[in-house]
Amino acid sequence: MGINVALDGPSGAGKSTIAKRIAEKLKFVYVDTGALYRSIAYSVISQGIDPADKDKVTAALPDMSIELAYRGGAQHVLVSGEDVSDKIRTPEISMGASKVSAMPEVRAFLFDLQRDIARKNDIIMDGRDIGTVVLPEADVKIFLTASAEERANRRYKELREKGDPSTYEEVLADINQRDYNDIHRDISPLRKADDAVEVDSTSMTLDEVIEHIAGIINDRAGKAKTQKKTDGERKERKPLLDFSEVEPVKRGRKLNPVLLFFYNLLRFIVIGMLKLWFNLKFEGKENIPKDGSNIFASNHRSYLDPVLICLPTRIPNTFMAKEELFRTNKFFVWLIKLFGAFPVSRGKGDMGAINMSFEKLNSGRNLVIFPEGTRSHDGKVGRGKTGVALIAAVAQCPVIPVGINFEGKLRFRRKIVVRFGKPISPEQLKVTTPGPKELKLLRTTIMDSIIELVH
Ligand code: DC
Repeated sequence: MGINVALDGPSGAGKSTIAKRIAEKLKFVYVDTGALYRSIAYSVISQGIDPADKDKVTAALPDMSIELAYRGGAQHVLVSGEDVSDKIRTPEISMGASKVSAMPEVRAFLFDLQRDIARKNDIIMDGRDIGTVVLPEADVKIFLTASAEERANRRYKELREKGDPSTYEEVLADINQRDYNDIHRDISPLRKADDAVEVDSTSMTLDEVIEHIAGIINDRAGKAKTQKKTDGERKERKPLLDFSEVEPVKRGRKLNPVLLFFYNLLRFIVIGMLKLWFNLKFEGKENIPKDGSNIFASNHRSYLDPVLICLPTRIPNTFMAKEELFRTNKFFVWLIKLFGAFPVSRGKGDMGAINMSFEKLNSGRNLVIFPEGTRSHDGKVGRGKTGVALIAAVAQCPVIPVGINFEGKLRFRRKIVVRFGKPISPEQLKVTTPGPKELKLLRTTIMDSIIELVH
């Protein structure tokens, strides 16, 4: 996926001129989606079909072929092989496009074409619903507006230069009508995406608008590009990332005594409650370091696991929890955050979560990770991901393997045994850098120890 910039706004706000110039500047492909709707209007009108006649327009779609071609960086639209790029700029086609674009079948017909081109290129795509419907995950979203009078003025001048006889009043009426159609249609109405930046160009010159928008794109797309580049590198399994700025954790940080007091009070209450309910045993508690900044790597059996690991540790733990959990009930989210949970996007090598882990370890707290990434329903330990080894190797923190054992489902009086193994020190394994070989060694050692503790 390339960098995607969505530029939406009403007719005549200057989107196409601006998008073209920015595309040239940033070497992006400019996609004018309005031209696609115009092409459909052109096609039906040339077949003698009223563009407002939904049944006939829909019936004509299967035989229509719309393609985008690029020559010298400029977009050309081909309707059944005919280049119609110039012919679709008349007021009649504008109005026809506005009508056909209100038809769900037409929008569905063009949806894949638009997404497909965005998937393969760095693009700036202009339209009405790009940020809201076509590319809701776009890296940058701009909503460009201007007053109807100013837009009519600009369009009127443009048409006059081309020798079009329309009057200013006609152009303004046309713009007002198309605004009304675009805003009030049922499907994909013109609307600013919640995360779009609104730019009002009424009293700005063209150059000012371009400079302003290019600045926004450079800022946001620059960040997205770095992120995507990193994602790409991760896919290629290159040595993981540049951790030159992360230093080994300084151990022995003192935590707030009030926090420690309440945490330990709560710990004893919860231990008491759980022991009433389950036949709960902890083994290998002597392996738990007295100070903080340790990593606990455990197999994952149930939602209770983070609590089970916290109970015998005197230092409050933090743990990565799948980000889906942070979109649930507000009280639940508050509760898990209180107990040190922070979100991780699974399967994406989430750098934010990895950085947060370093932060937590540096603050003197422990970190709980379930390297398998997901719960095991049959009790078998699955394949561990490299994240835990990576964090341990960079932070140079000991990893305490944990095995959580119980049979079947968690029920009243069920025996639960939580075993803590001997700390695994990256230093003793001579893992001092996060190179691929080192990470493999560390990951395998951790996973083997967990497996040994699960029996
Ligand atoms: O941007 P334009 O004036 O060339 O667009 C022509 C028509 O197509 C306009 O009335 C709105 C419609 N359109 C749309 O509904 N969705 C888009 N993404 C782009 C244009």
